[in-house]
Amino acid sequence: MMQAQRLGSVRPSMILGLVQKARSLAAEGKPVIDLGIGEPDFTTPDHVKAAAIAAIGADETRYTVVPGTVALREAIRGKLARENGLDYALSEITVSNGAKQVIFNALMATLSPGDEVIVPAPYWSSYPDIVAVAEGRPVIVDCPQEQRFLITPEQLEAAITPRTRWLLLNSPSNPTGGVYSRADLAGLAAVLARHPHVHVLSDDIYEHLMFDGHRFASILEVAPALKPRVLVVNGVSKVFAMTGWRIGYAAGPQEIVTAMNTVQGQSCTHAGSISQAAAVAALTGPTDFFAGRARSFEARRDIVVAALNAVDGIECLVPEGAFYVYPRCAGVIGRRTPAGEVIGSDTDFCRYLLEQHFVSAVPGAAFGLSPHLRISTAAPAEALRSASARIAGAVNALT
Ligand SMILES: Cc1ncc(COP(=O)(O)O)c(C=O)c1O
Repeated sequence: MMQAQRLGSVRPSMILGLVQKARSLAAEGKPVIDLGIGEPDFTTPDHVKAAAIAAIGADETRYTVVPGTVALREAIRGKLARENGLDYALSEITVSNGAKQVIFNALMATLSPGDEVIVPAPYWSSYPDIVAVAEGRPVIVDCPQEQRFLITPEQLEAAITPRTRWLLLNSPSNPTGGVYSRADLAGLAAVLARHPHVHVLSDDIYEHLMFDGHRFASILEVAPALKPRVLVVNGVSKVFAMTGWRIGYAAGPQEIVTAMNTVQGQSCTHAGSISQAAAVAALTGPTDFFAGRARSFEARRDIVVAALNAVDGIECLVPEGAFYVYPRCAGVIGRRTPAGEVIGSDTDFCRYLLEQHFVSAVPGAAFGLSPHLRISTAAPAEALRSASARIAGAVNALT
């Protein structure tokens, strides 16, 4: 096989590999509870589905312009103004096939070989690999549980070099559910003020899934002066439960958005026209169901956190948003399974959980901070109770 050099340090998605394995076991009839994938278990709202059907009926089936239809960019402009207090021109907004491709376009458009991107770990597993595809260098900064999995101003200051192009920020976070408070963001903004060459990619995709009465804050709300170097990334996948529709978007400085459109114009051209019409309905329609969805994820978080913290060897911080918990499993490392295998890492532990107890979770290794596992709470409460009980049984069976 003739493989491009730039793929040398790119790993295939460990999560998608695990999902595949869990599905094969389920197909063999095993009682798998899949808490591996980061996908809401709600359905796309009916008015969104209706808008897509209407768009098909109206023959909205041709190429659109590269950055997304005017209607969709108007809808995004309205959303950013209404919900985030941000003002963008249509030309500063671009739409792509999911937030993942938005991030891909941004990094492909702005990184030259060797440029550095600061990635706080644990990170969404695609970040360093997208940086690598774009021939940049991910600078991973360890942010352990003791600091709520968040990068500190001191760590940021120490990580910045003349080659730094971006800081990737994600709050609420996948995989930890960690949330940067206004004070946290103000601390980071003060460092960024001293380093005008560093841009921020603010991945706000979980903004509406906040718990315990907290309100989402973006770095631009706290430090509006950073606007010329912040790219706001968002999408409809999570709170609207539209993962398969593949619509994400970004708003930011004109030169960056224009360069992203150049990448897109020479790759996928644009996001699907029917999905774009659906996203217009999502972003201009009712939002009253957001709070109910957030409360539902909060209740499920509580089930998992309480059950896992009762297991000797597992410690679980209380996530403040998104739909993941990220327990530390240091207490199981070095122990033996009933079959005599030593659990040497979180990857071994997740393999044991899946193969012997049919619970699929993702090892912390996929997110750059071990020994942990990520459990998605986007599953029915009963499944979460059973899965937690199986994890407790699995740990208790270790010697
Ligand atoms: C932090 C984060 N950013 C971006 C994405 C990509 O979302 P999508 O491409 O479905 O819009 C995800 C999906 O899991 C995510 O967790």
